[in-house]
Amino acid sequence: MDKALITQLIEKTQSRLGDSYAPYSGFHVAAALLAKDGKIYTGVNIENASYGLCNCAERTAIFTAVNEGCKEFTAICIMGGPGGEVKDFCPPCGACRQVMGEFCKGDFVIILATDTEHYKTYTLDDIFPLRFDDSKL
Ligand code: THU
Repeated sequence: MDKALITQLIEKTQSRLGDSYAPYSGFHVAAALLAKDGKIYTGVNIENASYGLCNCAERTAIFTAVNEGCKEFTAICIMGGPGGEVKDFCPPCGACRQVMGEFCKGDFVIILATDTEHYKTYTLDDIFPLRFDDSKL
């Protein structure tokens, strides 16, 4: 992926960390999702006193896009950390990988970053090789 685009996604992700609603875990996460048409959708984690209802940043971004009629994606950048301080990569949880698998192909790019100079890119096939999808139904 183009470095300028990666930088843009990382900066967009960083800019959303302050909107994370994480009063229970204190772990703030943000994501920036790049659609095939070039539009960027963002999301933050949104927690709930009923812990099982917590929604991850990645799913917030994907559901926001789908809700707005967009279902084709190229890449997602994810950043998070305690108190919103990003010191380490924040890989997507299993539920978010499954939701990515619903809408994205194996070459979908996942960018894990701590800042614009420190990041690593993976594909969905890298991080979720044996997945259940509609081809199995
Ligand atoms: N979380 C995310 O938003 N994305 C991830 O990839 C991992 C975990 C959130 C869920 C919960 O609000 C908090 O981080 C701690 O698990």
